[in-house]
Amino acid sequence: MSSIIEDLIARKIFNNRGEETIEVDVITTSGFGRASAPAGKSRGKAEVAYYPQGGVDQALKAIDDLVAPELAGLNADFQEEIDNILHEIDGTTNFKVIGGNTAFAVSIANAEAAANSHNLLLFQFLGGNTANTLPYPLGNTISGGQHTRGKAPDIQEFLALPHGAETFLEAATANAQIHKRIGELLKKKDKLFSGGKSSEGAWIANIGNLDAFEIIAKACEEVANELDFECGFGVDVAAASMWNAKEKKYVYQRDNKKMDTGAHLEFLLNLIEKYHLVYVEDAFDEEDFESFSELTKKTKKCLICGDDLFTTNNERLNYGIKLNAANSIIIKVNQIGTLTDASETIGNAQSHGYTTVMSHRSGDTCDWHIAQLAVAYKCPIIKTGIVEGARIAKINELVRIEHFLGNRAKMADLNI
Ligand code: PGA
Ligand code: ZN
Repeated sequence: MSSIIEDLIARKIFNNRGEETIEVDVITTSGFGRASAPAGKSRGKAEVAYYPQGGVDQALKAIDDLVAPELAGLNADFQEEIDNILHEIDGTTNFKVIGGNTAFAVSIANAEAAANSHNLLLFQFLGGNTANTLPYPLGNTISGGQHTRGKAPDIQEFLALPHGAETFLEAATANAQIHKRIGELLKKKDKLFSGGKSSEGAWIANIGNLDAFEIIAKACEEVANELDFECGFGVDVAAASMWNAKEKKYVYQRDNKKMDTGAHLEFLLNLIEKYHLVYVEDAFDEEDFESFSELTKKTKKCLICGDDLFTTNNERLNYGIKLNAANSIIIKVNQIGTLTDASETIGNAQSHGYTTVMSHRSGDTCDWHIAQLAVAYKCPIIKTGIVEGARIAKINELVRIEHFLGNRAKMADLNI
């Protein structure tokens, strides 16, 4: 079996929003890997550039002219070497020349091709024999903020986390039932609710922030009672998108409320206590590490997670570790570019006790690799939505991995 790269083919495809994105095939002597890149809408400022100035077309040209000739003849098994070459070809710190999504698609397709060349699944190839732990699915049920237009909650995501489930399939079943139950509750609350959904398949409804808390709490409680295991929930506040830097206030338009940082901290602490929230992502503006640290200090059983805060960037994570800011981190490989960069951040996070959450993007394709990566890198949580094609592609891949592992499969230890 040989993993020598014979060819690299790139094409333009579409994500679930109909936006153009890049797909890459890596062909080795005895294997094949294909990966496509996702796109965020509420992006962190410190993320790498997605594409060069000329967009996807220029990225395709960069692959043909610069990347493919350099990688041809190399061994796909050496991921770090491949990823270093991508950095060298680009020459900037944030992939401005070839594009972060270009690097992402090449990097993941290469890893997949290497695994395939050895007749292994990606999680086995990267994680070895000890990769037998399934993550809990953190699923978006109600959308708000930048993922909606107009009259919806300001908080971006209301997320179910069925942490009492004993298998991944049970957990995914709980999430599907919670999502469905919320749809029924929304219809009861608002006769005009028409069943609209966001890119992530979460409901879009004309309700206030606190209404959304009441509805998800009721749905989780009912489904937990029916299935007989605990179903918690949490939120992605995506607070950077509400932060008015001039006024130094968080603006909740739907509720006609403005809060300074202290008031926002109190507001969130009350919600965590009242609803026993198990997860709060991006609670403050992405440069306010100190407030993340405050919130982390003042909570016990709740994961305080950084997404825009860290942007999967090891330097930003190091700064967070110093300040004890957050105890959990979102991992989006395309925020940083390559698999090697992301795996360094994951390793650093895990060795400092941070719960790693492998994540989709709001604009995504049916690429299922993050499911494999979550198992390979032992991430206890995967954030990937509940319904909608691009989300189901990842959920079903995890169902397959659990099935494949049989009685070796176990669920992650969440400690919440
Ligand atoms: P995205 O946001 O639109 O950048 O993917 C998702 C998130 O904030 O977690
Ligand atoms: Zn987020």
